[in-house]
Amino acid sequence: MDTSLLEYIEQEIIPRYSSFDKAHREDHARTVIARALEMGRSYEIDEDMLLAAAAFHDLGLAVDRKTHHLESGRMIREEGRLREWFSEEQIETIAQAAEDHRASSKTAPRSIYGRLVAEADRLIVPETIIRRTIQYGMSHYPGLDREGHWQRTLEHLNEKYARGGYLHLLIPGSPNEEPLERLRNMIEDTAGLRKIFDRMFDEESSETPVVIRLAVPGDVEAVGRLLEQVLKVHHEGRPDLFRPEGKKYSDQELLDIFADPETPVFVYDKGGSVLGYAFCALQYASSGSLNPITTLYVDDICVDEATRREHIGKALFDKVKEYAVSQGCHNITLHVWECNPEAMAFYKAMGMSVQFTSMEIICQ
Ligand SMILES: [Fe+2]
Ligand SMILES: [Fe+2]
Repeated sequence: MDTSLLEYIEQEIIPRYSSFDKAHREDHARTVIARALEMGRSYEIDEDMLLAAAAFHDLGLAVDRKTHHLESGRMIREEGRLREWFSEEQIETIAQAAEDHRASSKTAPRSIYGRLVAEADRLIVPETIIRRTIQYGMSHYPGLDREGHWQRTLEHLNEKYARGGYLHLLIPGSPNEEPLERLRNMIEDTAGLRKIFDRMFDEESSETPVVIRLAVPGDVEAVGRLLEQVLKVHHEGRPDLFRPEGKKYSDQELLDIFADPETPVFVYDKGGSVLGYAFCALQYASSGSLNPITTLYVDDICVDEATRREHIGKALFDKVKEYAVSQGCHNITLHVWECNPEAMAFYKAMGMSVQFTSMEIICQ
């Protein structure tokens, strides 16, 4: 790859994403570039052209959301500096690739560059797709009752995402294959899907509105109360390690954690009561041996003991996953105590598998 082009993109292009909405900041540009280049390795393509198309693809958001793909194309054609690296013909291909990245566009991208960028730009998160389907139904068909919404949700998911549905991935081997497969399995398990639907439908229609949001200073007390519950569970399992009472963080420490964008804390807020939380931390791999990935480390998830089995933990976990994807994280990790089989079963049910085992021997 041409280093002067890379430098130009890093210094002049990516910073232009900083003023966009949260889902389209610099991270988004970087994620799309990385995913496109990764998929592009299997094709005979000009990597520099792909890099430029991915880097520019959403720049049109600065002008207008609806037509941003076309605006991005226009910006590419008008960007004089691209002539330092590309011919007019190449610039036209790059511009068309940016124009074709809209996942909603009915026609397939015109070139492999457009297909790679569009596929890299698309993030399939099954839970988000199901929730958006329900939300769409609720706002467009307000006359339907719960059963009506269930039928509509089922139909839409089947038509579009099920095996044989009209959604096609644009690139074989795309990182979307795995989540799409998971979504397809969820659609085929009708009873399981119904449970997810019921929970989300309740959340979306509930008179006591449920939101999962970032923690604010007003949550210190509620979160502190939940931290005490967690400590109790840990103390019961490992009294040699955990104190019988107290909590992991002081109020001031909690305030600092809440305020730090690198350690987001999500709370499950039902009508103003905080019934659960998820402490997270973004981690960046940095060593000679590790790939430069971002990991979302979940420091702690807790649901109020009075409201267990209401799928609040799952809702929090889904939110954490959505967030990790939005931040371009490669994976989500967490530590679970061997003395807490319930927690272990929960995380396994969320699709997690064991990454490594931490061992100990008690010295007596
Ligand atoms: Fe876009
Ligand atoms: Fe995008």
